[in-house]
Parts: sequence; C-alpha cells; structure tokens
Amino acid sequence: MSSSFQAPKGISEYVPPRADLFYAVREAFAERARLAGYGYLEMAVFEDTNLFKRGVGESTDVVSKEMYTFTDRGGRSLTLRPEFTAGVLRAVLEHNLHKQGGLPVKVWTSGPAFRAERPQQGRYRQFYQLDLEAIGSEDPAVDAEVIAIATGWYRSLGLTRVRLLLNSLGCKRCRPAYRALLQDFLRGLDLDEATRERIEINPLRVLDDKRPAVREQLAGAPLMADHLCGDCKAYHDRVRELLGDLGIAFEDTPTLVRGLDYYTRTTFEFDHPMLGAQSGIGGGGRYDGLSEDIGGPELPGIGFGLGLDRTILALEAEAAERSAEQEPAFAPKPRCEVFAVPLGEAAERRVFDLVAGLREAGIAADMAFGGKRLKGAMKDADRSGARFALILGERDITEGVVQLKDLASGEQTPVPLTDTTSTLKERLSR
Ligand code: HAM
Repeated sequence: MSSSFQAPKGISEYVPPRADLFYAVREAFAERARLAGYGYLEMAVFEDTNLFKRGVGESTDVVSKEMYTFTDRGGRSLTLRPEFTAGVLRAVLEHNLHKQGGLPVKVWTSGPAFRAERPQQGRYRQFYQLDLEAIGSEDPAVDAEVIAIATGWYRSLGLTRVRLLLNSLGCKRCRPAYRALLQDFLRGLDLDEATRERIEINPLRVLDDKRPAVREQLAGAPLMADHLCGDCKAYHDRVRELLGDLGIAFEDTPTLVRGLDYYTRTTFEFDHPMLGAQSGIGGGGRYDGLSEDIGGPELPGIGFGLGLDRTILALEAEAAERSAEQEPAFAPKPRCEVFAVPLGEAAERRVFDLVAGLREAGIAADMAFGGKRLKGAMKDADRSGARFALILGERDITEGVVQLKDLASGEQTPVPLTDTTSTLKERLSR
C-alpha cells in the first residue's frame, strides 16, 4: 500500500529509469546551448502577477484562465510562472546583463512551469520547459541561430519526425493595419458569442480555432504573410535563406499564430505528428516590444520554449516504432556498468573499497548491500542493468583475485584484485 497522499492532479513527475532519460535529454540541451555561447540562468519560480499580465498579455488564455495566482502573507499578488520569457527578461534587466557587454545577451534556463489546464497525456499543470533567449539584437542571423539550436538538439536525440513550422507576425508598423483587416473579415462570419468577443480583443487567436465549422469559414481569411511591410518581408526572407543555408527544413505556415501576446516577426513551432492533440513539442519567436511592455528599455529579443515532457513522449513514440533489434536512438548513460557482490564480511569491506575505486575511475558501479546471499545478489546484478558482475568470496581474497562475470554471456574469469579497474576499463570499452 502506498501512503495516504498522492501528488496533486496534473503534475508531471519523473522517477527512474524514465527520469534518467529526462535528465540526459536536458544535459544534451545544456551542451548545445553552451556550444552556441548561451549562459545558464537559474531564476524565480514565482513572480509579481503583473509581470505576466503585462508581458504575456491579459487577453491570452494563459493569463486569463490558467495562472496559479496567490496572495502571499504580505498581501502581494504572486503567480507561479506559466512560462519563462517574461521572467527571463525581467531577470536580465534587473541584473543589468544588457549593460555588461555585447548584445545580444544569450541565456537559457529550464525547470517547471505551471498552467491550470485540463490534464491529459502531454498536457500537465506542472510541466517542464527548456527555455533559451537571445536578447538585445534584431538580426535575422540570431533568429536562425536560435532555431538551429533547437533543431540540432532534436536531431541529436535521434528524433526524425519533428516538423518546423515558420511564420512572420509582422511588427508594430504593419500589424495594426492587418489586424483591422482581419477584424473586418471576422465580423462578417457566423460565430458564437465568445469568439465574437475574441475578435475585438485578440483577432489573431481566432485564426487558431480548431473547430471544423469555424475552420471552414476561415478559409478565405486575410493572412499576415500577405500584408507584411517591406522591412518585415525582407527580414523574414533573410531568416528563411539562412535556415536554407544550414540545411534546416521548414514549412511556411501563414496560419501559425501563438498563444502569447508578445510575438512579433519570426514565429515558429516544432510539431511531432505522433503526439495527437498535444503535437506542439516546442515553440517560440521574436518579441521586440516585450521589454518596453514591462517597463524596460527598447530591447528586441527572440527565443523558444521546448516542452520536455512532450519531447520525452516523442522519443518514446519513435522508439516504439523502431524494431527491437535496433539500438535506441538516444539513451542516458548507464547508472550501473559493474555490480559487485561480496560474499561474507571481510569481502564486503574489500568490495566497498573496490566499488569506490571504480567510481573514482569513472565507471558506474554499485554493490549488493545487507549481506545478501549469492542468489539474491546475482538477481540484483541482473536487475541493475550492469554488463559485468564482480564476485568476491573468502577464497578469492586469499588468492588475491575477484571473479569477473560477463552478465550477457555468463562467462566468468578470475582477475587479480590489483588489476580490477584497468581490466574493467578495457572490457567496458570493447
Ligand atoms: P508555449 O508555446 O506556450 O511558449 O510553450 C512552449 C512549449 O511548452 C509548448 O510547445 C509545449 O511543448 C510545452 N507546453 C506548454 N504548455 C504545456 C502543458 N500544459 N503541458 C505540457 N507541455 C506544455 C512559451 O511558453 C514561450 N515562453 C516560448 C518562448 C520563449 N517564446 C520566446 N521565447
């Protein structure tokens, strides 16, 4: 029987061995970010509620319906971060990172984010994102770099089905005219009351309506892509060229709108077709007015948030499709390569030292604890996933050897105790 408690509804939790995969996937991202010059940021999990109201936008579902907001003991309204971008920009400005050297400020972070959504597979109330932002420059090469980091990471995980959807949402010069045009078009449609209200507040979001009856009517809607100003068009064409130069495939998706209000120009989403309704495994874009919106200086930026939970689901979906003989495309480093089994008290002390020595030498090693008998200990060895077992009995100690057993073949050979580490290093590298 478990305890009387369960985690609250909709929390995405990871325990081993799945959590080992989660961690390795994040580590792979950390390496990609480092290689591209992005520094790590560890930041607030809750923020002043107004940061999200002003940054993400009050008309968005995220802010109007999904925030975990509470009043603290000092009467302040605080909110568990529903996303990272507004907080990252707040932190960059608060710590003056934009004044300390060249721009853009390049940072990444990761951790849980919180949205009060209806939980289902791939949609959680506590979920995990990898977030990367380049703040302070308006250069199509930065946009392409940011997108390339995400695609390179997906590729490094062995994911082959990820699609990149690309669009431009224009700028503060061309979007207002387009917005008015779109509103005119939408007001002429047969829509329910809530959607009619949305036309007045956030008409672009109507384009994202998934209901067939609405979709049908949207067929002839004006698209931002056809109404970009000259600068936005040139900017977007350059981003597309640069992605082409890098060999990154993308799909122009003029209907792509994002759920958060701060986006301008380049916007993109990563989609995985095997995940059904939760196919959006990552998304991002440019947010050139966000800094001013939260009371900062003019500081254009671009970034993305990648959903770790959905990436894990995508990895599992693709793995299930591969044949059993194929190597997994991506696997965490093993937690145990060698499992040691002491038989008797004297052996236990020797094995304890031996295992410590193996770990110092960079070999993942574990041992049987609690004076287990051979049979039970060997079961543990098999369960550990180790390639080799080391078995040490009283007689071995007198002879100065340890039995090295290959757990796949069952073959067992004595190895001089003094050579254990070097022998295992050699055998593991084969
Ligand atoms: P977003 O599209 O709201 O963007 O979220 C990014 C990713 O987080 C989604 O593509 C999805 O994979 C994952 N995600 C979102 N909500 C959930 C959920 N309830 N359960 C599981 N996964 C979820 C942002 O958050 C922006 N801040 C991204 C960004 C960074 N734009 C510029 N910089």
